[in-house]
Amino acid sequence: MEFKVTPWDVEGVVDYERLIEQFGTSPLTEELIEKTAKLTGGELPIFFRRRFFFSHRDYDKVLADYESGRGFFLYTGRGPSGPMHIGHIIPFYATKWLQEKFNVNLYIQITDDEKFLFKEKLTLEETKRWAYENILDIIAVGFDPDKTFIFQNSEFTKIYEMALPIAKKINFSMAKAVFGFNEQSKIGMIFYPAIQAAPTFFEKKRCLIPAAIDQDPYWRLQRDFAESLGYYKAAALHSKFFPPLTGLEGKMSASKPETAVYLTDDPEEAGKKIWKFALTGGRATAKEQREKGGEPEKCVVFKWFEIFFEPDDEKLMERYRACKSGELLCGQCKRELIERVQKFLKEHQERRKKAEKLVDNFKYTGELAREQWDKAIPEALKD
Ligand code: TYM
Repeated sequence: MEFKVTPWDVEGVVDYERLIEQFGTSPLTEELIEKTAKLTGGELPIFFRRRFFFSHRDYDKVLADYESGRGFFLYTGRGPSGPMHIGHIIPFYATKWLQEKFNVNLYIQITDDEKFLFKEKLTLEETKRWAYENILDIIAVGFDPDKTFIFQNSEFTKIYEMALPIAKKINFSMAKAVFGFNEQSKIGMIFYPAIQAAPTFFEKKRCLIPAAIDQDPYWRLQRDFAESLGYYKAAALHSKFFPPLTGLEGKMSASKPETAVYLTDDPEEAGKKIWKFALTGGRATAKEQREKGGEPEKCVVFKWFEIFFEPDDEKLMERYRACKSGELLCGQCKRELIERVQKFLKEHQERRKKAEKLVDNFKYTGELAREQWDKAIPEALKD
């Protein structure tokens, strides 16, 4: 079956092996995973162990730079078009783990400009408001405030100056080929890729970008001209997509509420949504399921456990076995997932509440933030 992956849309059942070929990226090999474990002291997080991150560009070179003492920095982002869902937060957890283990700077771009330009119905006021809301969710993940700079494009306008040399390197036919722009595309949309590429040049070190693979077209483009501007080609770690509640096709999407659990959902409501919409690999009747067993390969509930909600490998295997043998029925399994999701949401929401007081640390007053703002303000305007 055909599938499609762009920065704006994912359709069909994604064949990740084929996507590696289509996008021209490299598989994240056992060897690289082991090397990561060795350099970071052993225990790998669930996203690496279960191969949710499955592909990369130049991650081997990033690790070599770390070993040689040259170092690297991290960059990731969020387009604030609405509330964030559970899928969006996973690249941020992976980023936090990398920041902690390698002790490196991290830049988080909040693209209120992008979402205003690309979403017909959203006003700039709305994307700015979502930027604030999303920043709270991101801070709740727990980054180091002195090594993390969260910036909003409409506010950190220095980004424009940094995008200029990039915008001079990309012609319309390149942008068309990569992003599918046409004569009807707004001119703001056509300029935007230069803005998303700009943070890859924040430091004269290699930039590693953890994100789902939908964002890769930006890095592919950046890699065409980075060296000609005296910088490194962007390196990336690509994740798969957290599946929608409703099936294993496409991705969890914030604009389709029945597919998503939002980080701000009331835990009770989230539980009801999972109960109602989560597709399982169950049989038509309990009797049939006891006889034939369930089909975890087709089950969204099992996938959610596998990706995020069951970190214990042995317990996951036991769940698989119990499902296959018909011992574990879907109702029970769903109830167990709901408990895990509700616990996660409650804890996240407590941290999110505390984040309200931390926003300035990440945007203006943390060490890295201050450094960036200092550089951004022209000498003439200082004091
Ligand atoms: P956005 O807001 O669409 O997505 C934010 C991050 O979440 C990833 N993602 C997912 N991951 C797992 N499962 C899903 N279902 C899922 N949907 C989205 C995205 O890949 C991304 O990592 N243009 C960007 C904002 C941006 C950015 C960046 C993202 C600017 N600079 C650098 C990553 C890296 C956007 O709209 O992301």
